[in-house]
Amino acid sequence: MAKKRTAILISGRGSNMQALVQAMQAPDFPAEPAVIVSNRPEALGLAWALERGLKAVAIDHRQFATRMAFEARLHQTLVDHGTELICNAGFMRLLTGGFVDRWKDRQLNIHPSLLPAFPGLHTHRRVLESGALITGCTVHFVRLEMDSGPIIAQAAVPVMPGDTEDSLAARVLEAEHKLYPLALFMVASGAVRVEAETAVFLPRLNVPPPLIVPQPA
Ligand code: GRF
Repeated sequence: MAKKRTAILISGRGSNMQALVQAMQAPDFPAEPAVIVSNRPEALGLAWALERGLKAVAIDHRQFATRMAFEARLHQTLVDHGTELICNAGFMRLLTGGFVDRWKDRQLNIHPSLLPAFPGLHTHRRVLESGALITGCTVHFVRLEMDSGPIIAQAAVPVMPGDTEDSLAARVLEAEHKLYPLALFMVASGAVRVEAETAVFLPRLNVPPPLIVPQPA
């Protein structure tokens, strides 16, 4: 089966992008990189991608008068590179309904909590303040509302005594790097479809379960 051409949208460090690119290098992975787009020219992830000879471009949102003008350029760039799937990986721009609808069920996002708990910014701080003992990360299809949409895969991560925002973020990030390639594998191989705003998994395909739950030590 042809590999799904997958664009990755970033705004910064790009460690999830790296995990996706590395996973896509496996010969039997059902997706391949199409283009990496950063809305920030100075993003470290953009430099990483260019150094490795990947197709990567900056589309600086500050150069556009309106959100829609920025999105029109972004859309055209994706189309020009034959994009079939989009992975948002630390992409810090809100997208309008026009863009979200055009890529409906073809655009994924990763968020560092067990959605629908703790959407939005400062996730780890709010998890620590809540006293929750388990957090994690979620890959979902993108919808207009931030950090909402059908859930594709989740990983559970324990909150440890004495955790700081940084220590918790680092533990969750490790799980993100495993979960995002797994979720992309499932979507690109055609193992997931959306029914009534819920992701449904086709049992006939031989794909790993969409859940990572560590055993207690
Ligand atoms: C990740 O924690 C991701 O879940 C969130 O932003 C962070 C991006 O990190 N949306 P990186 O740029 O992938 O390293």
